[in-house]
Amino acid sequence: TKAVTVTSLQAMRNSGEKIAMLTCYDASFAALMDRCGVEVLLIGDSLGMVCQGHDSTLPVTLDDIAYHTASVARGNQTAFLVADMPFGSYATREDAFRNAVKLMQAGAQMVKLEGGTWLAETVRFLTERAIPVCAHIGLTPQSVHQFGGYKVQGKTVEAADQLKADALALQAAGAALVVLEAIPSALGKEVTELLTMPTIGIGAGPDCAGQVLVMHDMLGVFPGRKARFVKNFMEGQNSIEAAIRAYVAEVKKQSFPGPEHCF
Ligand code: KIV
Ligand code: NA
Repeated sequence: TKAVTVTSLQAMRNSGEKIAMLTCYDASFAALMDRCGVEVLLIGDSLGMVCQGHDSTLPVTLDDIAYHTASVARGNQTAFLVADMPFGSYATREDAFRNAVKLMQAGAQMVKLEGGTWLAETVRFLTERAIPVCAHIGLTPQSVHQFGGYKVQGKTVEAADQLKADALALQAAGAALVVLEAIPSALGKEVTELLTMPTIGIGAGPDCAGQVLVMHDMLGVFPGRKARFVKNFMEGQNSIEAAIRAYVAEVKKQSFPGPEHCF
């Protein structure tokens, strides 16, 4: 199969084919997910919770993400690799550039940063310097202490308008992808239609251009409280490979997420 690129992801968005994305942290799962047709693998800072046992993503370091990115890159053949910029690694655009270079050199093909309009100049600084960017808005877990918990975002008219303005500013600054986390489905649909770049939802409704889940969540491994947007794809399957294939199939035919997974 042909390698997934920013160009092929944009073509999928334009043709309406849904993009299947999962988090991935090691070479064995990278090879398996790639074989199952997952188009995008995210080396997420969620590894702080699911791999390291922390209760937030804040303790994750750049070296942690670089280590897991290199592992995933060795196992992967055709999927597109996005690596999270950890908490505190992109406070200035110069910091962001220097740190993003390390992740790209570890094997990432794009970096993901959490934040709205304030980040636009950083996104421009990176994209001008050949570092593709995935934005992340809505419930941005690195801001958990500012939000006062993991809460659905964009629920008031003002918050929804701000989120739409943020999405447009990030796209104008050169972002090629955006993750929408924990927002009402109607807002996920609106933002998806407003933008030309693909939107990837996690708790953002079925109308996003693609979906993402944390692999431990969709395999029913993570012991914590299950978020509303999570579905355990091991149910009814007898192997991890079958569960991942079921996830890809349900994303493609838009039967995941169902109303029970949405806000
Ligand atoms: O770190 C992560 O796993 C993420 C996804 C949930 C989008 O950022
Ligand atoms: Na993340």
